[in-house]
Amino acid sequence: MTLETLRPRLDFPSYEEVAKRDPLNIDGAMKILPDLNAESNIEGLEAVTKDALDESRRQRVLSQTDALAVIRDMDFLTSSLLRHGVQPFEVVPELEAELLRVSAIARTVPRGTVFTYAAANPAGERRRSFTGTAEEDVFIDAVSRSIVALDDAVDKIGSVSPYSGDVTAALNTSGAAMDEMVRSIIEVKRTVTPEFFTFQMRPYFESLTIGDKKYTGSGGAQIQLVAIDFMLWGCEDQDPDYLAFFADNVDYLTPVQQRAIENYLKNNGDRSVVSLITRESNADDDSRQAAVDLLRKIRKFRYPHRKIAQDNFKLRPDDAVGSGSYKPDILDVLIDKTEGAIAQVEESRYE
Ligand code: HEM
Repeated sequence: MTLETLRPRLDFPSYEEVAKRDPLNIDGAMKILPDLNAESNIEGLEAVTKDALDESRRQRVLSQTDALAVIRDMDFLTSSLLRHGVQPFEVVPELEAELLRVSAIARTVPRGTVFTYAAANPAGERRRSFTGTAEEDVFIDAVSRSIVALDDAVDKIGSVSPYSGDVTAALNTSGAAMDEMVRSIIEVKRTVTPEFFTFQMRPYFESLTIGDKKYTGSGGAQIQLVAIDFMLWGCEDQDPDYLAFFADNVDYLTPVQQRAIENYLKNNGDRSVVSLITRESNADDDSRQAAVDLLRKIRKFRYPHRKIAQDNFKLRPDDAVGSGSYKPDILDVLIDKTEGAIAQVEESRYE
């Protein structure tokens, strides 16, 4: 392993490290957050948020790990206020500037993401949860396992270059990560009913404007699959719907994940993996087989996931959008592109 590939992993705290931290000394209040939410106790939520803000402002010097934990916990509070119809910055005006200050230290967006909601969320007694239910627990754990597995995939595909040689190994590692994602979606499908997600959980993932920019609530579109698609086929795609989806969500990735994409583009220009292995004269059958296997696993995640989304949207008004502010049609777009990429690699095997 070269220094170049090691460095990006070393300069961003791990999810476990962030999960361990309680810089706002808020573990106790987080335990009662589900009760405050169940009672729509807006006064209680405001009081906890104000205390959290005071504590955060007292700590002028925060480590990056603590800053990420602050962003995580503040987002549980602001998203809870939003869910009960309260604009957080109207009741706690200084919070907006504090989120911007802390996010600059954390080197992330000024709002919680799927990474702080799930992967950096402590397990057991210290679990942060909007509803405190078994369903939300399953959801957080399932998403978390996918995120942890996908980091490896992003890393490996990000290191692919025309000279690295081991495209096949990178694609096979990513296939293992997608197996985890398939397991996750099946578990969520079995455990979290459309009624539960739509009426109990989705209201906690509303958008919030911070410093003149709208940030979506944490959601699946922020997961690293957006980076994997981009390297596999997306960096050569011109479809405006897809490009807008990518541009919206790439901001929520961690700097390490964003750097993997930059690294990929630096080494390959805008040639996607699919293009590399179908057009380059030195591409072999092993890499094509590995690419087809990986893309099929992505497809195996996407169909049941779209079914879950469709079942949820049957319960919602016609103009409803997902946590990432999209209509479920975006899932059709991504399925079509996945099918297209599979067909492209399969055809090249018989040329
Ligand atoms: C009840 C559960 C779920 C519902 C209703 C749901 C719904 C949606 C919707 C509507 C989108 C479109 C973007 C948006 O506006 O948010 C989306 C995107 C996405 N979701 Fe979910 N989702 C659920 C669970 C999950 C789980 C458990 C995972 C991961 C293990 C996941 C991963 C993704 C990914 C990766 C995307 C981006 C689109 C893609 O790559 O196909 N979702 N989801």
